[in-house]
Amino acid sequence: MDTIESRITIKRLHPLFVAEVTGIDLTQPVPHEDFRVIWEAFNEHQILVFRDQHFDDETQIAFSRHFGELETMIAHPGNDWNPGHISIMTNLGKDGNFLPLDHPAMLHRERNEEWHSDSSFKPVAALASLLASRIVPPVGGNTDFASARAAYEDLPAERKAALEGLTVLHRMTHRDMDADKGYNEEDKKRHVVTHPLIRVNPVNGRKALYVGSHAQEIVGMPPEAGAALLDELTAFCTQPKYFYSHHWRDGDAVMWDNRCTLHRATTFDKTKYKRKLHRTTIAGKAPDIAFGAMPER
Ligand code: OGA
Ligand code: MN
Repeated sequence: MDTIESRITIKRLHPLFVAEVTGIDLTQPVPHEDFRVIWEAFNEHQILVFRDQHFDDETQIAFSRHFGELETMIAHPGNDWNPGHISIMTNLGKDGNFLPLDHPAMLHRERNEEWHSDSSFKPVAALASLLASRIVPPVGGNTDFASARAAYEDLPAERKAALEGLTVLHRMTHRDMDADKGYNEEDKKRHVVTHPLIRVNPVNGRKALYVGSHAQEIVGMPPEAGAALLDELTAFCTQPKYFYSHHWRDGDAVMWDNRCTLHRATTFDKTKYKRKLHRTTIAGKAPDIAFGAMPER
């Protein structure tokens, strides 16, 4: 290879997925050869943990753009009704004070405590998310991850064959759409899409179960039977052997592959500790960079 050797080192944090990436300051412009290493590690390890990255929104957006076009979120309680590239995971109001536990934004964010894949309810679902710390609680408030790729690969061949070709209906809302108060009625109806149950990473051909809380029905099956199958598969993916829990430290940033992993927030003492993490979400488009196989569109 005629590429310049990168300074980056990659260290596995779990036997099946998740790697820590060191040797780079992501708030500075990232050279091509370094991004290539990160891109390959992302496709292989599915979750990348970066430490001591002191992102602000501008540098976080700039780094995220290496992976492709960013999603623009609609106005909703998760971004304080500010549409844009940043979603805010917090228990604080704009004034920095604790929000009451029954505040609509708090109730809305509680949905992140269910296993999910970001934006799976969009026609072009998210490639990746980058969640970066701003304020982290000393206890609790971990983000849990599961490898739906490792889980899929462990399924018996006959089960894989039976699942191949199934199509899943994803909704932005809870299964009970009418009970979901977080969005306006028009947005709720618009964000209903279908995706294949088995999702393929076009870079390396690896397959994963594409499930989680937005995946709610299987096309061609009675709704309850489809939901039961999806629940079973999500439970299968989130078994301890496919599971990693990230305890947040100051300066942490974690990037995950939404095509092959599930994640969820975990609770913490929301009246005692402050937590604020900012997320950028990369849309499922090819990155604007001239190497390697390109991600799925
Ligand atoms: C997200 C998310 C979990 C968390 O940012 O998409 O689900 O731990 N966050 O805040
Ligand atoms: Mn999420």
